[in-house]
Amino acid sequence: MPDSLPTLSGLPLVGCLPELRRDRLGFLLRAWHEGGGFTRAPAVRGRFLYVVTDPEVARDVLVRQARRFKKFAALSTYSRPILGEGLITSEGEVHRAQRRLIAPKFGRRDLGTYAATMARHTAALVEGWVPGRGVDIHAEMTRLTLAIATETMFGAASGSYSRAASAAVHAATDYIAGEVGRLLHLPVSWPLPRNRRMQRAVRALDEIVFEIIRQRRADPGDQDDILQRLLDARDEDDGRGMDDQQVRDEVMTLFVAGHETTANALTWSLDLLARNPEVQRALSEEVRSVVGDGLPGLEHLPRLGLARRVFEESMRLYPPAYMVGRESLEPVEVGGHSLPAGVTVLVSIYGLHRRPDLWPDPERFDPGRFSEEAIDARPRGCYLPFGDGPRVCIGNHFAMMEAQLVLAGVAQRWRLVALPGPAVAPMPRVTLRPGGPVRLQVEAAG
Ligand code: HEM
Repeated sequence: MPDSLPTLSGLPLVGCLPELRRDRLGFLLRAWHEGGGFTRAPAVRGRFLYVVTDPEVARDVLVRQARRFKKFAALSTYSRPILGEGLITSEGEVHRAQRRLIAPKFGRRDLGTYAATMARHTAALVEGWVPGRGVDIHAEMTRLTLAIATETMFGAASGSYSRAASAAVHAATDYIAGEVGRLLHLPVSWPLPRNRRMQRAVRALDEIVFEIIRQRRADPGDQDDILQRLLDARDEDDGRGMDDQQVRDEVMTLFVAGHETTANALTWSLDLLARNPEVQRALSEEVRSVVGDGLPGLEHLPRLGLARRVFEESMRLYPPAYMVGRESLEPVEVGGHSLPAGVTVLVSIYGLHRRPDLWPDPERFDPGRFSEEAIDARPRGCYLPFGDGPRVCIGNHFAMMEAQLVLAGVAQRWRLVALPGPAVAPMPRVTLRPGGPVRLQVEAAG
C-alpha cells in the first residue's frame, strides 16, 4: 500500500512544492537521505509526489511497467507548440510507430559518417582560442554542438541555415524552460513578446525545413544527413513513411533534445578536467598516443577509453536530464507498492548518481568508476544519464560519439586551467545547466 511508503515532511497546504522550486537538487538528495529509494512527498490538496532513487524501482517505472505511465504532462504540454507530435511529446501508439521508424537510423554503427563533421567543427572552434586567455566554455560548447547538429541534420547545405536554426533552437528551449518554471500559464496564442519571439523563430525554421523537404522529395540526390534518413524511413510492417509535418516535428525534436543536453554535459566535463589536472594530463597522453596530430576519427573511438570514462563520470555528477517525470495512467504496482492512477513519479537520476552506497565518496570525480570491472560490480540501473526502457534517449550513441571526439579534439590542442574561486553551481531547469558562465583559461597542451 502507498501508505506504508516513507513520507517526507512538507509545509501545510503546499507540501514540498516551494522546496522543489527553490532547491530542486537539494530536494532530490533529501528524498534519498530521509525517505530512501522510494518515498513520497506531500504536494497540494492532499496529493503526493513519488520520488524514486532506487535502481529496481526505476526499472519498474521506466521499463517493466512503462506502458502504464505517460510522460510528465507539463513538459509535453509546453513543448508541443514547438515540437508538435515528435518523439518527445507523443504517447502510446503514435510514439511507438515513430520510434520504430527512427530508432534504426540512430544505432551505433549507423552514425559513423557523422564523426568527421564532429571532429572538423571541434578543430575549427579550438583553432580560434588564444593561449593565456579565458574562454566561456559553456558558450563555446553551445555554439559547437549546434553547428554539429545543424550540419548532421541538413548536410552540406547547412551553412546558410545555421543562423535560423540556432535562433529557433534557442528561442524554443528558452520558451520551454520559461513555461515549465512559470506559475501562471498564458496560452501560446496570446501576443506576448516571448510568444511572438518563439513563434517568429520557429516559423523561420519551419520555412527552411519545409523547403528542403520539398527539394529532397523532388530530387533525393545521395545525401546521408539525418533529414534524408527521416525522409527515407519506412515502417517494417506496412512500408509507410512520414509525412512532411511529421518530419518537421522530428527535426525540431532532435534539435531541442540533443543540443542543450550535450552542450551542458561537455561543459561539465571540461570544467571537471580543468579542476582535475592529473586526469587531464592522462587524457592528453591518451589522445597523443592514439590520435597523434591528425583529426580524431571513428577508428580511434575504441581506444579513446579515458575520453569516454571522463564523459560518463561527468554525467554521473551532473546528469543533464537530472530527473525524468512520469504520470500513472492506471493503478500500478511499483517497487512492491500500489500507486493509484494519475500520480506523478519522479525518477531522481541526480539522486541515484550520488547514492553513497552505490558510489563511494560520491562527490569525488573519478573516471575509474567506469572501468569494465567497476561497471560489472554495480547493480544494473544505478546509472541512467540517458533514461531507460522504451523512451531511452534515441541520441545516446550520437552523444557519446560526439563527446569522445570533442574531448579528444580539445585535449589534443589545449590544457584548460580553472580560474581561482568556487566552481560554478549547477542550475536545474529543464536540463542541468551551469548557473553562470564557466570561464576557463586555455594553455597550449604540453
Ligand atoms: C549528453 C547528451 C544527452 C542526454 C544526457 C540525454 C538524455 C535523455 C534522456 C534521459 C531521455 C529520456 C527522457 C525520458 O525518459 O523522459 C532522452 C530522450 C530523448 N533524447 Fe536524449 N539526451 C542526450 C542527447 C541527445 C541527442 C544528441 C539527441 C538527438 C540526436 C537526443 C534525442 C532524444 C530524443 C528524441 C528523446 C525522446 C525519445 C523518446 O521518448 O522516444 N538526445 N534523452
